[in-house]
Amino acid sequence: MMSLKTQINFKLNGQPVTVTVPVTMNTLTMLRDELDLTGTKYACGEGECGACTIRLDGKTINSCLMYAVDCDGREVVTIEGLKSGETLHPLQQAFVDHGAIQCGFCIPGMIMQADYLVENNPDLDRARIRRGLEGNICRCTGYTKVLDAITSVVESRE
Ligand code: FES
Ligand code: FES
Repeated sequence: MMSLKTQINFKLNGQPVTVTVPVTMNTLTMLRDELDLTGTKYACGEGECGACTIRLDGKTINSCLMYAVDCDGREVVTIEGLKSGETLHPLQQAFVDHGAIQCGFCIPGMIMQADYLVENNPDLDRARIRRGLEGNICRCTGYTKVLDAITSVVESRE
């Protein structure tokens, strides 16, 4: 059966992109399979785990739940878009420094969500970070060091 495709244009990690995608493809699959951005992870595929978290027009979303065609005209940021040149984003560096990464599968989603929380919450504390990460599941149960890493970034901005 032939699948219907359409061309979309959007901004991806600061750069304009044009891509032709099947109308039924989700954003996660487009990022990984069409655009080779494999930092965003596929785990549950049904909005339960947060491994596929990206920023869309500033908000965070589960990219497995959104059609790729709905990126048209929008601004998308993935984990690959956070670092500047060879310099890691402060959250990425903090996760490394605190040993917050075990298998690493949940980490891109955690960092994307943490970036949103840090950017949008002037009164962020450990309890609020914990609540804000409710949708991000770690199968290695490495939450304590994740909280340590994000808290260190919050404290360094005060
Ligand atoms: S893969 Fe999207 S929420 Fe789990
Ligand atoms: S570090 Fe393994 S899933 Fe979180």
